[in-house]
Amino acid sequence: MQPGVIVSGFLAPHPPHMLYAENPPQNEPRAQGGWEQLRWAYERARASLEEQRPDVLLVHSPHWITSVGHHFIGVERLQGRSVDPIFPNLFRFDYDMQVDVELAEACCEQGRKLGLHTKMMRNPRFRVDYGTIVTLHMIRPQWDIPVVSISANNTPYYLSMKEGLGEMDLLGKATAEAIHKSGKRAVLLASNTLSHWHFHEEPPVPEDMTREHPQNLLGYQWDMRMIDLMRRGDMREVFRLLPQFIEEAFAEVKSGAFTWMHAAMDYPQIPADLHGYGTVIGTGNAVMEWNLLKANLYEHAQRQPSRVANS
Ligand SMILES: [Fe+2]
Repeated sequence: MQPGVIVSGFLAPHPPHMLYAENPPQNEPRAQGGWEQLRWAYERARASLEEQRPDVLLVHSPHWITSVGHHFIGVERLQGRSVDPIFPNLFRFDYDMQVDVELAEACCEQGRKLGLHTKMMRNPRFRVDYGTIVTLHMIRPQWDIPVVSISANNTPYYLSMKEGLGEMDLLGKATAEAIHKSGKRAVLLASNTLSHWHFHEEPPVPEDMTREHPQNLLGYQWDMRMIDLMRRGDMREVFRLLPQFIEEAFAEVKSGAFTWMHAAMDYPQIPADLHGYGTVIGTGNAVMEWNLLKANLYEHAQRQPSRVANS
């Protein structure tokens, strides 16, 4: 069996507003559009994902919170209705999700071997959180690729930031090892917003885009600084600044998905593709991709003697 590979990782945020604005048949509320910049960003991400032909999508969401350890969904098919507790007016979604239980179990076991507290979630009536669903729907609305769904233990909130993100680093390494042994082509999804300062009141028409803008200047400037570094591939500097970014921009990456994903990819120092940026109730959201396949091909091409030089 060929070893499995991580083809790419996406920063894939989950405000339910984007899904609401798409009007998919599974969501009960109806919208008159809105948040187009982000939705078109996801369209570009979808086209890239389609080319990558993954066998499995792995998603880490901050809104499936497990206080004791890191949990993995261990039920092959989950169906039900997910409601956003903060925006029930926008998100009441009927999901039908196929789970790659074999790979989930392997991630769980590898995590345990690295010293993490891990557990399989076997409740067949489990209600999947809106973060997991919005990210999965926006990146692959066909719902035809099996999923590994990972909870947020939120250790960076309870321990020191260093200890908490250190644990997410281990979870990433465990995930990579499990994928490697699985022989599968995997895509990772970090379900995170960047700056997370938000408005506290919703406009009468939620999709009224005249009311949508960054909640504050500092958060916006931080987002641009971090995105600029990511676009240039300076991920060392991104991770050096991450704790300060989290503090000053109240960034949702604190919940660990971003660190988990980059650890699993072994912190590639490659430029990210920015598919797009937009605010949702004032928070900063970027859809970004680290395409390892493309980066490897690029490196490979760089190593080849050029045809011109040989002629
Ligand atoms: Fe969130």
